[in-house]
Amino acid sequence: MKPLPSCLAALVILLSALGAGAAKHVVIPATSFDSQADFDTDWAYNYPWGTDHNGAARMAKSQVALAGGTLTLTAKKVSGEKAASHGGKQIPIKYLSGAVAAKEHFNVSRGGGYDFLGEFRATTARGTWPAFWLTGVKGWPPEVDMAEWKGSGKISFNTFNTSSQVRARDVTYPSPADFHKIRCEVRDQNGKDVAVKFFMDDKLVETQYGKGFVGQPMYLIINLQMEGSSGSPGPNEGMF
Ligand SMILES: *[C@@H]1O[C@H](CO)[C@@H](O)[C@H](O)[C@H]1NC(C)=O
Ligand SMILES: *[C@@H]1O[C@H](CO)[C@@H](O)[C@H](O)[C@H]1NC(C)=O
Repeated sequence: MKPLPSCLAALVILLSALGAGAAKHVVIPATSFDSQADFDTDWAYNYPWGTDHNGAARMAKSQVALAGGTLTLTAKKVSGEKAASHGGKQIPIKYLSGAVAAKEHFNVSRGGGYDFLGEFRATTARGTWPAFWLTGVKGWPPEVDMAEWKGSGKISFNTFNTSSQVRARDVTYPSPADFHKIRCEVRDQNGKDVAVKFFMDDKLVETQYGKGFVGQPMYLIINLQMEGSSGSPGPNEGMF
């Protein structure tokens, strides 16, 4: 039997950079997946707004596991769930899966910024949609997809100014069975906009800019959504 679709995250370290030359401090430590107590200090289950979003998975605490310093999100097929509502549409729920959100909100201040670091092993099967991303607390955008995998074998890096003004870069995702380092440096650019540098395995892949993101608090989310932008049908249990 093949494994169920999963997304693993380890070593999530988030540094707040307080101005040029100023010392960085750790906002969420690399030990935050070491134990339930460490997890509970910095993370909460599900999306900040609830269990549903823009795909065929409903998030549940049962699909989130911690072991050996690694967070594992696993999707499983379900039936009989009521549909999700998103953007005026009903989305049939076919899976339970996992999402976690940082308790901290991330608000790039003037002259400041953050480094978001994580190591991920993410499924790239069609219909699986893991993501490590930032989205606005008070409205949308801001959104920065620091890494998302949309079932194509690629990894995507995106910044949204508006739904139509979006910079999206898809690159080949090497050896999905291995962990890859993702680092995203988010910095005040000019007192209003932020510059976002996306690194994979310590190589700069892309720089993008978020309009007016300075002073806009953002949620940090790690989730394994299903179908949606990753296509359908998603995998059946044991079949991928
Ligand atoms: C975000 O940070 C700015 C300072 O850069 C501050 O003025 C603003 O109140 C903060 N917003 C929130 C919601 O914390
Ligand atoms: C988003 O806005 C920033 C700041 O104005 C700009 O530099 C960037 O090119 C915009 N992105 C897109 C995709 O238009």
